[in-house]
Order: sequence, then structure tokens, then C-alpha cells
Amino acid sequence: MRIFFCYKKYIMETSVYPREPELLKELRAITLNHPRALMATAPDAGQFMALILKLVNAKKTIEVGVFTGYSLLLTALTIPEDGKVMSLTITAIDIDKDAYKIGLPIIEKAGVEHKINFIESAALPALNQLLEDPKNRGTFDFGFVDADKINYANYHEKLLELVKPGGVIIYDNTLWGGSVAMPEDSVPEFRLQTREVAIEFNKFLAADARVQISQVALGDGITICHRL
Ligand SMILES: C[S@@+](CC[C@H](N)C(=O)[O-])C[C@H]1O[C@@H](n2cnc3c(N)ncnc32)[C@H](O)[C@@H]1O
Repeated sequence: MRIFFCYKKYIMETSVYPREPELLKELRAITLNHPRALMATAPDAGQFMALILKLVNAKKTIEVGVFTGYSLLLTALTIPEDGKVMSLTITAIDIDKDAYKIGLPIIEKAGVEHKINFIESAALPALNQLLEDPKNRGTFDFGFVDADKINYANYHEKLLELVKPGGVIIYDNTLWGGSVAMPEDSVPEFRLQTREVAIEFNKFLAADARVQISQVALGDGITICHRL
């Protein structure tokens, strides 16, 4: 479930869908056949993310939580070629390669597969492995986190070491269907546990002096962190 206010439809129809690349529309359409299609990053949040990628001139990025690849394809379409043939500039981590394979034909059709290093793994060990190589520390321009919410605080610590000062980390689902702002007794049972995690993470980010933040009510809520 996404946050829905009357202006949301207006924004989607006026500013988002008309500018959404055709291949992202295609990927969104095939994802609809997946039983967990709602997990995909929302197009309005994606559009904002693409804007940030451009503004920081991101070239080397990391994504935690790929699913069928909406945010991944969006990133691959947005960042520039770095001039090196077959260079892998996006590190994308997910435990579920089958979901990634659903979107892969569209990524190939877009001609951007060569930018992607897909790592089939739980994110924490994969991030730890990246950190073992000094060449990765402080070298990423951008990180996007959209996986298991319980680990967001752990991912934050790892990403602060991987993303360079001046870089950006975006967290998805920080409003968790709006439940973080609802009285507890009106929150659907299935949302309660992750709501608590999201509330704690939001408070943690608000107090984290290592980042400048802005929490934005796009999609399911995204929090943009500027690495200071
Ligand atoms: C919300 S979906 C990601 C949506 C994606 N950003 C998109 O635009 O479609 C969450 C993904 O995180 C993955 N995931 C969950 N827990 C994980 C973990 N511990 N490590 C790595 N990936 C994980 C799931 O397999 C799922 O594909």
C-alpha cells in the first residue's frame, strides 16, 4: 500500500508518467505479474531518484534490494557511460536472482546490462566483502537501499563507509504505508512490526550528524541522506 492523497494522482499523471522512459513502463508492466509486484519502487520516487543521480553526477552506485529491477534500470539509464568498455559501475545486491531475471530482458533491451554487477547474496555479507577491498571505501557516489527494513541501520553504517563525502544515500519505504504517522491502534496488524523498525530508523537518521537529510512523501516515503 502506498501513501495516497488526492494530489498524488495529479502528480503521477502530470509530471511522472509522461516522462517515465518506455522501458521502465515495460518493466513495471511485466512486474505486475509478480505476486509481490507492490514491492517495486514507485515511479514518482524513482523520478526523484533519477534527478538526484543527475545532480550529484553519480557514476559509481550501489543498490541494496533489486527485485525485478525498476530502480536498477532507472539508475542504469540515468548514469553516464564512464568511457571504459564493459565497465561495471552499478553494484546491485539481492538474495533473489529469480526476481532479477524477470526484469533482465528489459535491462538487456535497454543496452545497459554491462553497467551492472549483480551480486546474489544477503546484503550484509556482500557489503562486508566490498569493504574488505580498500578500493571500494569512500568511492561510491550514490547508494539506494530498498531491502529488509530490519537491517536499514546496519546498511547505513556500511554505506557510510562505502559512499564518499558529498555522495547520497536514499532509503525507500521510510513512511511504511503512512503507518509511521498513524496511532498504533489504527495500524493494520501486518504493518506493526516493520512500523516500529521504521520509526526507530527515522529517529536515528534525524539524529545522525554524519548526514544531512530530507524525508520526502513520494512513493512509500524516501529519505535522502547527503553524506557529510
Ligand atoms: C522492495 S524490494 C526492492 C524493489 C526494487 N528496488 C525495485 O525497484 O523493484 C526488496 C528486495 O530486497 C530483497 N531482500 C530482502 N532481504 C534482503 C537481504 N537481507 N539481502 C539482500 N536482499 C534482500 C528482496 O529479495 C527483494 O527483492
